[in-house]
Amino acid sequence: MIAIQNLTKQFGATTAVKNLSLAVNPGETFGLIGPDGAGKTTTLRVIATAMRPTTGQVTVAGIDVTHDPEAVKKTIGYMPQRFALYPDLSVLENLNFFADVFGSPRAQRTELIARLLGFARLGEFQTRLARNLSGGMQKKLALAATLMHRPRLLLLDEPTTGVDPVSRREFWDLLTQVHLDGVTIVISTPYLDEAERCQRVGLMYRGELIACDDPRQLRANLGAVVFEAHSTRALQARKLIEHRAGVRVASAHGDQLRLLLDCAERAAEIQTFFHANAISVDDWRQVQPRLEDAFVLMIAQEKQP
Ligand SMILES: Nc1ncnc2c1ncn2[C@@H]1O[C@H](COP(=O)(O)OP(=O)(O)O)[C@@H](O)[C@H]1O
Ligand SMILES: [Mg+2]
Repeated sequence: MIAIQNLTKQFGATTAVKNLSLAVNPGETFGLIGPDGAGKTTTLRVIATAMRPTTGQVTVAGIDVTHDPEAVKKTIGYMPQRFALYPDLSVLENLNFFADVFGSPRAQRTELIARLLGFARLGEFQTRLARNLSGGMQKKLALAATLMHRPRLLLLDEPTTGVDPVSRREFWDLLTQVHLDGVTIVISTPYLDEAERCQRVGLMYRGELIACDDPRQLRANLGAVVFEAHSTRALQARKLIEHRAGVRVASAHGDQLRLLLDCAERAAEIQTFFHANAISVDDWRQVQPRLEDAFVLMIAQEKQP
């Protein structure tokens, strides 16, 4: 559905995307993750024909984004991070507006809009002004508008950022329906529980794709074991061992210490070390790796000279 070959996008001295190659299969739900400034939005914008590549080639359903952007636009639905709904128009008026923009035929419009209202579960709110909708409802309305012209490829740039967990789940229920309809979805997200729901995930860092795989594979191939422990001086404990041999990543959240170690035997050695330094760290347990661990570890490896 998407074929990207050696894509580079430069803004003056900044290389936002660097030599990126990636293929997304038809019907796939693909997640783009990475810290702020990694190049996710730029990548989505180039695919969406909102921006031209500096070098490299991008095709959508076989169509080159620079040669025939209009044809590409008909194939895709693009929901930018700040999707512009009209705050002073109602839900229904917004959908009618986007039906005009996408030139959807009048004869089918009533039925199409009714279907989208049902899909987004906004039927009972159709007369409410967009600005009076909750954040989660606004995202659902934006998604409905993006689906107006029945795109085969959906590009979503952080569609759930800042939305409460219940609304995020509802939004993903809608995406599941879209996926079951056979639509290819590329979604960028800062939430790794969402990335976990994608068939494949691409991790971007400083403009480069540093990993791309099934999220379960990313966790399974972590190349580290994960331990958690409890300490009232977790921060101090972390500082003491973060550069120790065998400690790949150490992090502290409140009273919780989370360690990515090269092997399980290392944990006993570190416990002895804490003991010798009179820092009490207890409740040691080995836990399953999370996608976040893979993410943090791969970025830590990239940072090393
Ligand atoms: N229009 C632009 N002009 C100049 N620099 C930009 C522009 N868009 C993005 N950048 C820069 O490119 C890099 C990647 O940005 P972006 O694609 O927005 O990353 P992400 O979406 O992963 O946070 C950042 O350093 C950002 O400041
Ligand atoms: Mg972005």
